[in-house]
Amino acid sequence: MNYYIGIDLGTSSCKGTVVDGEGNVYGSRSVKYDVHYPAPGYSEQDPADWLSAAETILSGLSRGREDEIKGVSIAGQMHGLVMLDENGAVIREAILWNDGRSEKQTAYLNSIPETFAETGNTAFPGFTAPKILWVAENEPENFARCRRICLPKDYLAYKLTGVFSTDYSDAAGMLLLDVEHKKWSETMCRICGISPDMLPALYESCEVTGPLKPEYGLKNAVMCAGAGDNAASAVGCGVLSDGDCSISLGTSGTVFLPCDEFRPGAGKTLHNFCHSTGKYHLMGCILSAASCDDWWTKRILHTDYDKFTLDKAASTGVYFLPYLTGERCPHNDVKARGAFVGLSAETTRQDMCLSLYEGVSYALRDCIVSGGVSVKEAVLCGGGAKSPLWQTVVSNVLGVDIYVTDTEQFGAAMLAMVGCGEYKTLKECAASTVKKHLAASPDPRVHEKYDKGFEVYKKLYPALKVLSE
Ligand code: XUL
Repeated sequence: MNYYIGIDLGTSSCKGTVVDGEGNVYGSRSVKYDVHYPAPGYSEQDPADWLSAAETILSGLSRGREDEIKGVSIAGQMHGLVMLDENGAVIREAILWNDGRSEKQTAYLNSIPETFAETGNTAFPGFTAPKILWVAENEPENFARCRRICLPKDYLAYKLTGVFSTDYSDAAGMLLLDVEHKKWSETMCRICGISPDMLPALYESCEVTGPLKPEYGLKNAVMCAGAGDNAASAVGCGVLSDGDCSISLGTSGTVFLPCDEFRPGAGKTLHNFCHSTGKYHLMGCILSAASCDDWWTKRILHTDYDKFTLDKAASTGVYFLPYLTGERCPHNDVKARGAFVGLSAETTRQDMCLSLYEGVSYALRDCIVSGGVSVKEAVLCGGGAKSPLWQTVVSNVLGVDIYVTDTEQFGAAMLAMVGCGEYKTLKECAASTVKKHLAASPDPRVHEKYDKGFEVYKKLYPALKVLSE
């Protein structure tokens, strides 16, 4: 039998799944690690934690079937800055996708025409390029020692194979890639004070980059280049073609829209990246989605409110702004802050719980509207997608059918299946492995209420900007 392992290098944990060529799951594992917050707005991780988690997962999932593992692939949290010295050793902790320290460098990159012209994207503080500029300015000794720069999953793949590689979907989020022509931008590298040969070799997501190192004992396994976590989840959801959409409710929230053509105009507010299919995608990203729920249930309520029945049909007049760690799309504002608005003496805990689901859903709708794109139906994925309540609220706020699938977790394994020749294309692979189920359909009356609620929601960020001035 042939087996494939997909590893998902997330922000709160690393997860892995082993599947056969038909997509039957034979095991999954996860290992948690910490995020470090050395200063307000900073967010870092130790790459050694990723490696040890991935090694534990790899050996656990392959035990007893070592020789039958044919392919491994990694989906990774995007944009993180990993800097290596001349010996390939990590210079400083990785600066993560939700780190807001590079506001000044981001503003600079957005003030020069080259950034958008070269990459088709607006700069956001979470992206890699502004963080390189931050290190150059604030830690010149670290910058001087840096010989290689890569993304989180690329560091892992480098340690597992010795090959310094990345894939286009993840590379696009560095703001160093000429996304349209799929090559490193010399101009962006020059602006960031680095040279393109410090960056990994570029591959399509399914392409084989090399064998695993002998010490992992998987002598028949190859590594495939992998993908940014959102592109990989989209693959796992079968979201591959123009008109498809996946929505992720993970630590971050994303709306992922594949497109056959490169669409630079939309890159002003949305991200305009490459997809694992070889084509492109647009993506709106909000920094806090399921993490709002975590904050609210664990830190504030000390209970899990899915145990309540939320009997309210819609919008109770209480609004929640999910900007707990600033906001990426569409506001690009690290100083934005969360809020409950519209409280009254009658407001109940349930009203506030419901408003949290609504607020995250409104924020996703805000991304869609700002990018001038539309969604016909969506596959919901990520931790939040497991809540039937949240599925219903997203469906009603967006006015579209919401589907779910069990395969969202093994998009990375699907990349390896195609890379190893089990299927010719991702579409073929998805056709035989991905099964979607309808989870929620919008109620037209509730959707209409949310249309009105969204008009109010949009006015709240500008009205509350005074908080962050
Ligand atoms: C996407 C983004 C996040 C991370 C989370 O642009 O920054 O979704 O990839 O892992």
